Amino acid sequence: MMQQFKGKVVFITGGTNGMGFATAQAFTEAGARVIITGRSEQTVNKAVAALGPSATGIVSDAGKMTDILALPAQLRQYTDRIDVLFANAGYGKFASIEQVNEAHFDELFNILVKGTFFTVQQLLPLLASGSSIILNTSFVTAFGIPYFSVYTAAKAAVQSFIKTFSMECTAKGIRVNGISPGYIRTNIFNNTGLTAEEIAGTIDSVIPTLPYKRFGEPWEIAKTVLFLASPDAGYIHGAEILVDGGLSNVK
Ligand SMILES: NC(=O)c1ccc[n+]([C@@H]2O[C@H](COP(=O)([O-])OP(=O)(O)OC[C@H]3O[C@@H](n4cnc5c(N)ncnc54)[C@H](OP(=O)(O)O)[C@@H]3O)[C@@H](O)[C@H]2O)c1
Repeated sequence: MMQQFKGKVVFITGGTNGMGFATAQAFTEAGARVIITGRSEQTVNKAVAALGPSATGIVSDAGKMTDILALPAQLRQYTDRIDVLFANAGYGKFASIEQVNEAHFDELFNILVKGTFFTVQQLLPLLASGSSIILNTSFVTAFGIPYFSVYTAAKAAVQSFIKTFSMECTAKGIRVNGISPGYIRTNIFNNTGLTAEEIAGTIDSVIPTLPYKRFGEPWEIAKTVLFLASPDAGYIHGAEILVDGGLSNVK
């Protein structure tokens, strides 16, 4: 495979599983050095072992300010610069308006909104001109899906960061874009608090509504992230690319 990212350093939050892991894999195959995060030593070590010698892992919780503030020093043990930052860590929890409590609200806003904001803020000094930031949003922001109110609002905030960050980063020569996945076959449902039966029921009810009658695969997100990070996307800035198999636009 072409070593398009040879000599580049890529940092991915939430790189132990799902689309973060698939993206880490694609970047290592393309020659990059990849640094991933996850919440536990066990998941991080497992992912690093699977990714091979060009991968490094840091145990860091994107929902904890102390962990985010420690990141620059932790990263500087391995590198003095990052060429690509993929702010991807996250999950959803779903409940009706009546059922949402303060803990649910704070948990999702901490990891998705505060985590994304302060990760970018803290790592900006390591991002030189020519580097690229990619934020993971979601197709959900265009819809009113029952029980998704808090998750969708948090992702809408991240969507707004794409525009405001790109404006501030233009002069620094840093491109900022977003990727908006549709339903992707990852581990995400296992973090929702739903039972295995409820997960299977949700998936079965969603598939017939999808234009391709299938979930997307994590590698389909990874390939788009690599494109956004590459010089081929050099004129794409402040944009969000939908990778949702047509879900949002094909009716
Ligand atoms: N799957 C979908 O259909 C879909 C659609 C649209 C958007 N998204 C978004 O895509 C992103 C990735 O999700 P995924 O579907 O790939 O899910 P996944 O397979 O569950 O992977 C989530 C990743 O995030 C990490 N993570 C979770 N909470 C974290 C935290 N507090 N700090 C650091 N890392 C954390 C997990 O690592 P550890 O478990 O090791 O901590 C794991 O590596 C999320 O932002 C999600 O909202 C998913």
